Order: sequence, then structure tokens, then C-alpha cells
Amino acid sequence: MDLTEALHRAEQLDAEDPLARVRERFSLPDGLVYLDGNSLGALGSSVPAAVGDAVQRQWGQSLVASWNTHDWWDAPRRVGARIARLVGAADDEVVVADSTSVNLFKALVAAARLRPGRATMVIEAGNFPADLYIADSVADLLGLTVRRVDPLDIGSSLDDDVCVVSLSHVDYRTGRAYDMAAITRAVHDAGALAVWDLAHSAGALVVELDDCGVDFAVGCGYKYLNGGPGAPAYAMAARRHHATMRSPLPGWTGHARPFAMEGTYEPAPGIDAMRCGTPPMLSLLALESALGAFDGLTMPQVRARSLSLTTLFLDLAEEHLVAHGFEVVTPRRDAERGSQVSLNHPDAYGVVQALAARGVVADFRHPDIVRLGFAPLYVRHTDVVTAVRHLVEVVEAGEDRDEQWVVRATVT
Ligand SMILES: Cc1ncc(COP(=O)(O)O)c(C=O)c1O
Repeated sequence: MDLTEALHRAEQLDAEDPLARVRERFSLPDGLVYLDGNSLGALGSSVPAAVGDAVQRQWGQSLVASWNTHDWWDAPRRVGARIARLVGAADDEVVVADSTSVNLFKALVAAARLRPGRATMVIEAGNFPADLYIADSVADLLGLTVRRVDPLDIGSSLDDDVCVVSLSHVDYRTGRAYDMAAITRAVHDAGALAVWDLAHSAGALVVELDDCGVDFAVGCGYKYLNGGPGAPAYAMAARRHHATMRSPLPGWTGHARPFAMEGTYEPAPGIDAMRCGTPPMLSLLALESALGAFDGLTMPQVRARSLSLTTLFLDLAEEHLVAHGFEVVTPRRDAERGSQVSLNHPDAYGVVQALAARGVVADFRHPDIVRLGFAPLYVRHTDVVTAVRHLVEVVEAGEDRDEQWVVRATVT
């Protein structure tokens, strides 16, 4: 299919798409093709007014009374419940708090403590760097050993010394999605607990935490959930662990009686024990408003659109990009793919910069990956074709080798 034909096909797919109008729930700059929602999600149209209200009316007028009158205190649980519905957990199993990294620390320590006598933590070797660093630190603090493994080979790394297995549902670099149900089952068969990082799956894939028997999970608010830069993250703990789990960061907001100001910590019942300090209310209310973009949608619908976008991209990549020096890294099989497609290219950094100069935003991951995120709520099929056309033109014109890209920006 040449790219003119592909554009017609994409227009047809967009016209037939039941989710096409969901894009109107976002404010995106005219003419921009935004394929970086897996890094920072787009601005929801309702968010500026919600933040304005939080600043001017709630903070400005009601001041400290807002903790009660505007229900700020319960917002971590209220927003957590909305996220729970997107990831297949019960409303009382998710709380919004801290960053993904901090929540992972809490979850790994809590999980390891639930398996005393076992001294090995298994972690995906290619996991996000923070996940690797935190696992190493948890192991150091608790006197455990870390075993770094390939998740596709998880079975051979499980034995009766393993307390916790920590994996990302979708690999941030390659876009590969792992089989949460099968891996969690294998982890449980070995007597260990499973901790999943949902940063690159929540809000784009069907995630069934409870059906898969997941023990703990964490994830970001600012990627496919569109909560805004630095949005607070969330932590999930299965209900069966609530009575016995112990967070290593026992803050006052996670106390059973926070306003009794007692000198000794007693965990709040349930998921509230995963709270630590005062929530960042402005960001939390921005996230709550952003989640409204999912209203009326089911995750299978969202996933279907994501797959339609990535399938179209992969088809066109094979036909038009491979010949231009790109190699597709992301698996072809739907079940093995997240909502991004990653391409290897020797000038990946230059490709991403030249693409941005043409109004197509993707990102670069060391050493040679061009990452294109297809956020299913607002990316269109026509955007897919536009991106492929610009990728071809960038390489044909040698724009990726322009000397202005020799010095890299701080954030790539
Ligand atoms: C898979 C994964 N885990 C963890 C993190 C870290 O999240 P945070 O910086 O919010 O702690 C990221 C950030 O991009 C990520 O992609």
C-alpha cells in the first residue's frame, strides 16, 4: 500500500472508529502529531478549569477547610478507585500517592516481608532503571540477593528461595507486553509474590490485576492516564495482603488515626497504609479531572483502538521503513505488544529531533531506539500515516544526520 492509499485507508478507519470523538476530550496543538503520550500524556480539556477551581476557589477561598469541605483528605482513595477500575482491581485496593519509584520501594519491601526466610528477589534485567536501582536498594536493606532475568525465561529463575518477582507489564524500551496471568501464576506456584509496574500499560491495555492474582502493582499518573507533568502515582495491594502488609515508609497520613498525632505508628486498615505524606492536591485534582477522559469507555474498546493504530503502523513500517534502515523491535503479535512501537535506527536521536522539527513528536531511548507511543484516546490513524511519511522523508533527506543534533538535549 503506498502512502496515499494508506492515508485514505486511515481516514476510513478514523471515520468508522467508535472512539474517534474521544480526541475532542483533549486540547492538542493544531497540526501536531503527538506520539509521546507514553512519556507525558496530553492535556485533557477539562483539566485547566479543574486546576483553576482547585487554586482559586478551593485553595484561595476555602483554604485549609478544603481538606474537609472539598474532600481533599479522601482524594487519594477516591482517585485511586477510578484508577482501580482501569486496571482490574477493586476500588479499595488502589491509592494515589508519591511517585512510581517510591511506591515500588514500598511494594517491594512490603512483599519481601510477607515471605520471610526467602532471600532472593527476581527482577526483569531490562526493567526501567529506577526499578533496577530500587530493587538493589531493597535487597541491600533487607539482606537479599537480586537475580536479574529475562521475563521470557522466568520459569528457570524461580525456586523456593525467591520471595518477590518484580516486572514491568510493558517494557518501556521495546514495547513488549508480558503475559501477566501466566507469569503471576508461575510466581505463585513457586511460593513467591508478584509486583507489577504498570507505567506503560495502565490506560492503554486491558489490565486485570485481580483476575491475574497480582499481589502488588504500581504505576504513573502522567503517561496514558494523562494526569500532567509529575502527576502523583498509585499503588495497588491485593485485599488479601491488607491486614499483614507493612509499608517501610509509615507516614502520618497512612496512620490508623492520623489526627490523634500519636507517637507510635499503627497502620491504617486497608490500602490507606500505603499513604505516606500529604498528597500534592493540585496535581491530584488535575489527575482526577484527566481521568474523566475515560468516562463511558471500556478498556477492551481502548485496547482495540490501540491495536488498530499499532497494527497500521507496523504494516507500514515493514513496507516503508525497513528499507530506510529502521528495524522494528516491538513484537508483531497483538498479545505481546503494548501501545508503543519501537524502531532501532543508527541515528535514532537525530531521527527523533528531525521528526519533531516536522511536527511529529516521538522520543529517543538510549542507545538507538525511536519510540512512538500510540495513546489510544487521542492518536488518529491518519497520524500514523503522517508519522511514517515524515520518517521516510527525514531519512531520505539525511535530516537525521544534521550537525545540530550532535549535542543532545537534557531530556531525550
Ligand atoms: C516503567 C517505569 N517505571 C518507573 C518509572 C519511574 O517513575 P517516576 O519517575 O514517576 O518515579 C518510569 C518512568 O518513566 C517508568 O517508565
